[in-house]
Amino acid sequence: MTDPTTYRPGLEGVVAGESAISRIDVERNRLIIRGYDLVDLTTTASFEEVAYLLLNGELPNRAQLDAFLDTLRNERSLPEPLMEYLRQAPDTVHPMSLLRTAVSALSFWDPDAGDNSPEANVAKATRLLAKAPTILTTGYRLSQGQEPVPPHADLSAAGNLLYMLRGEEPAQHEQEAINVSLILYAEHGYNASAFAARVVTSTLSDLHSAVTAGIGALSGPLHGGANEQAMQMLLEVEQHGDAEGWVLEALALKKKIMGFGHREYKAGDSRVPSMKAVAEEIAKAVDDHHWVDLAARVEETMIREKGIHPNVDFPCSYTYYMMGIPIPLYTPIFVSSRIAGWSAHVIEQLAGNRLIRPAHIYTGQEPRPVPAIDER
Ligand code: COA
Repeated sequence: MTDPTTYRPGLEGVVAGESAISRIDVERNRLIIRGYDLVDLTTTASFEEVAYLLLNGELPNRAQLDAFLDTLRNERSLPEPLMEYLRQAPDTVHPMSLLRTAVSALSFWDPDAGDNSPEANVAKATRLLAKAPTILTTGYRLSQGQEPVPPHADLSAAGNLLYMLRGEEPAQHEQEAINVSLILYAEHGYNASAFAARVVTSTLSDLHSAVTAGIGALSGPLHGGANEQAMQMLLEVEQHGDAEGWVLEALALKKKIMGFGHREYKAGDSRVPSMKAVAEEIAKAVDDHHWVDLAARVEETMIREKGIHPNVDFPCSYTYYMMGIPIPLYTPIFVSSRIAGWSAHVIEQLAGNRLIRPAHIYTGQEPRPVPAIDER
């Protein structure tokens, strides 16, 4: 039954489902993933352990983790036709578009493509987690006229991502920085991309379709695309020379400041302190604190003028920049982690599925006769 009084544009505050995967605890400003505080996970776990937790419901024991790591490492390479496709893609294509299409295409070679059992979905999600960094680094290197770097079987997800991007083994502190960012990006409740993945799944479609939809939803600047936009903005702020003045001008023009604001958190994103700590470490390592300082001035001005706090995309953007990661890869890196969260939502949706099909309020014409073509 349609009840127009429940209508909220953007569905804010509307309960659209149940989930045991994560909870944004706004009162205590924390994100709980399957019962664990995300901040605790960033200090004690690897991204791979968090991905396992999301996909299977519990943290792995040593034997389970070893088996999961083995699978991830063995699944990193891409089918040859997909490598060829990446070679043929125009250099101007954004890596998010490459990733969206390549993830969809991977279903062609996945032995479990049409199997919607939880076991098959964990297997498919694990393969996508293993292959996404290969797609994004291979696609990017080819677009720059460089040969792809084959995956490194001895490195973690974080280390291997940087290795395939640069062709040399990253330092430990860099691997740790990426590891924390991947954990922070892995899952965040009923956000737009997770919801998109659940809507697709609710028709009893397959995991590759749901993840492809998730990537499409994440790519927009109001969602995951904000990390790239935030860095472009910081480059503009630096060029301008006066961070406070730049923000005041942008606000006067009613511009959105990228990397700020959040639908759920209104007093700060619980993931930001962990990412800022990483930014500090990287600034120390590169012996250049000016991006952290510039970002702090933007943040102070936004809080003072609008009471709007940064979200995780803001510190992620300048951390990645200080590490020399090309800006068009920021959102694809987010994808390489969020595949774990989306896949958990797919599995959960299927376990208690009901077709997602909301109502709407019709604002069009009243019924009228169809005019003959010469009378239009
Ligand atoms: N810069 C400037 N003003 C902002 C803002 C931002 N980043 N985020 C919110 N606001 C303003 C809105 O313009 C609105 O002002 P108004 O009441 O004068 O119209 C007010 O704050 C409330 O914002 P609203 O748009 O209702 O919040 P929301 O919950 O719909 O939006 C976002 C949440 C994330 C879409 C929004 O904050 C945004 O666009 N942020 C920038 C993109 C971004 O960083 N996305 C990543 C999110 S993790």
